[in-house]
Amino acid sequence: MRRAAELGLEFLAGLDERHVGAATDDAGIVAQLGGPLPDEGADPEAVVEQMARDFDPGLIASAGPRYFGFVIGGQLPAAAGADWLTGAWSQNANLHPLSPAAAAAELVVGPWMLDLLGLPADASFGFPTGAALGSTVGLAVGRHVVLGRVGWDVEARGLFGAPEIQVIVGEEVHSTLLTGLQYLGLGRERVTRIPSDEQGRLRADALPSALDASLPTIVAIQAGNVNTGAFDPADAVADALAAHPNAWLHVDGAFGLWAAASPELRHLVAGVERADSWATDAHKWLNVGYDCGFVAVRDEAAHRAAMMSAKAAYLMQDAAHRDNWEYVLDSSRRARGFVVYAALRSLGRNGVREMIERCCRLARRLAERLGAAPGVEILNDVVLNQVLVRITPPDGGDADAFTRQVMTRVQDEGEAWMGGTTWHGLGAIRISVSNWSTTEADIDRTAAAILRAAGR
Ligand SMILES: Cc1ncc(COP(=O)(O)O)c(C=O)c1O
Repeated sequence: MRRAAELGLEFLAGLDERHVGAATDDAGIVAQLGGPLPDEGADPEAVVEQMARDFDPGLIASAGPRYFGFVIGGQLPAAAGADWLTGAWSQNANLHPLSPAAAAAELVVGPWMLDLLGLPADASFGFPTGAALGSTVGLAVGRHVVLGRVGWDVEARGLFGAPEIQVIVGEEVHSTLLTGLQYLGLGRERVTRIPSDEQGRLRADALPSALDASLPTIVAIQAGNVNTGAFDPADAVADALAAHPNAWLHVDGAFGLWAAASPELRHLVAGVERADSWATDAHKWLNVGYDCGFVAVRDEAAHRAAMMSAKAAYLMQDAAHRDNWEYVLDSSRRARGFVVYAALRSLGRNGVREMIERCCRLARRLAERLGAAPGVEILNDVVLNQVLVRITPPDGGDADAFTRQVMTRVQDEGEAWMGGTTWHGLGAIRISVSNWSTTEADIDRTAAAILRAAGR
């Protein structure tokens, strides 16, 4: 373990300067390490050393300061340390008798999370693998509640012969939320999609005509569009649902919900606290290592009723203690509360606010640097930490192809890494500034790398 710690520290120390992308794909590593399992074991230290050497070419410096792909956070030093401790402790975080410490960690940090995210202080909470399964939890509780109100026990009877549920999402719904609906038997395609505006915000004015007040209804909105960072108008959606007799409102705020931690940005999430359930990630913008999500539900009894209902004499549950599994989909699992404790305790309220605001400031800086160059267009309003960049070739030719080429050149050069997307039919480089360790100098190096690749 000491050797592993040394090797881990070497990796972390090199993060800032290593080629941000990978040097090989999976096949290169499989060729090195694959094949039949040897009959004889190997020395543990040698195994760890071999892993550090042979997996290394396929590692991405995604925890480093110039990785801007997808929406990926780094790892705060305290969170990294806590993660190593969590590994050493190897607690199963499902039941209280299996780890009072893991139960306590969730009880300590859950209220901190609710407070930072501006959610009701008495909401119940759980720590799933990520926002995707956090939203699946929220939707499952919504399914339980809206069907329960019309006399249907979905946990006991499933959906066979159940009353119809109307499911409404925005046109820009995240793909994983549809997967959650798929898991729950609500169908990824059987949803009503409300049109979005040019930034990807659900158009609340189109909601009333789509709503059928006679049907049990689940509406899912999002805080933070994965491309633009834009927010669905939670207040207006909650207003539209106010008169509905049987509706559940869920917010997918994988990264955007963190805007609530900043007085400067809080206006973006106005109204989200009126929803019934919320999902976000700690492994994105809170910068804890993978994996850690967060889900909160207004109605604790409903939350527990819709989740893990395994009961058996040997499980030794008692009503006086928290069993973490009553709030998520999984049973045996890693104790995710410890890293969240470390991240939040090391940052404090002010540190969280500063980190979120810094990332947004850096995203604006990058957008300004790039947008000032000829032929470079910023496609979105940079309201949060996301920037969409489109670049026209010097001869005015195919901007889609050229933008992709620039992205590939930057990736190959290795100074920074960012992915691509298509926004309203236009090819774009997609930049997400989510890492605690990114500095202004990193942003300027990245802007220079992009402009160099574009020949500007
Ligand atoms: C809006 C939104 N929802 C859900 C997810 C899925 O999050 P995870 O993969 O952490 O579960 C993402 C990931 O980027 C997201 O941006």
